[in-house]
Amino acid sequence: MQFQQSNLFERAHKFSIRRLDYAFGRLYDSRKSIRTEFVQHPDELEINSPNIEHAVEYQPTPSFLFRSMLAPVEGPFSDLTFIDLGCGPGRTLFLAQDLGFKRCVGVELSPLLCRAAEENISNSPAATREAIEIVQADATNFSIPNDDCVIFMFEPFEQEVMKQVAQNIISSSSKPRSRATIIYYHPSSDWIFANNDAFQRLRYPAWQKSFLAAFAEHGVSAFAIR
Ligand SMILES: C[S@@+](CC[C@H](N)C(=O)[O-])C[C@H]1O[C@@H](n2cnc3c(N)ncnc32)[C@H](O)[C@@H]1O
Repeated sequence: MQFQQSNLFERAHKFSIRRLDYAFGRLYDSRKSIRTEFVQHPDELEINSPNIEHAVEYQPTPSFLFRSMLAPVEGPFSDLTFIDLGCGPGRTLFLAQDLGFKRCVGVELSPLLCRAAEENISNSPAATREAIEIVQADATNFSIPNDDCVIFMFEPFEQEVMKQVAQNIISSSSKPRSRATIIYYHPSSDWIFANNDAFQRLRYPAWQKSFLAAFAEHGVSAFAIR
């Protein structure tokens, strides 16, 4: 009986968080005149790549959690490039631009979502249009710029692809070594980074840790390249 009650509480909590995510997401979209708050299955994304079988559906990062997710990043953001591997129609790129990142680059496999991102950007003020760039590519083929950067991922693909991306990150930051922080939301393959000596797990400050534990339904991990 007690188990059933706690199960019920957990489900009610998850339901409330999803409603909250959705409400904040819609609000963010309408404030920015963009469209990012929707869910779409990979089969509907015009993806013509063998990696479609490892791709995860599109859904956006909750806007109200984004700043806390970046807590382990050593600023100032204005010195850093923000890269979202699997950016969809660009939600995090707009959020990163709000925070003052020097440059925001989104990499996306789906041509349909790339068009949606470009449309969102074209509806934006000139400063946003200049700061955000969309690259239509498979993340495994994208050569990560050797800038000091934040590499963001929201569970874009399964472990087969993630292993290749982790290797890409390592080779991109070797000579000379740049500062790369990986923020990985819904980190189901974070063992790939945790078990590789090239990466070091970063801890969240106590307050953000509690906030994310309460509201980030899928969890978040952070790593730095050593
Ligand atoms: C869960 S969504 C996250 C969207 C966005 N990053 C955000 O946080 O709002 C994952 C995205 O990764 C994209 N994706 C999947 N496999 C990919 C790959 N191999 N290369 C680039 N993008 C990929 C999907 O099309 C989808 O848009």
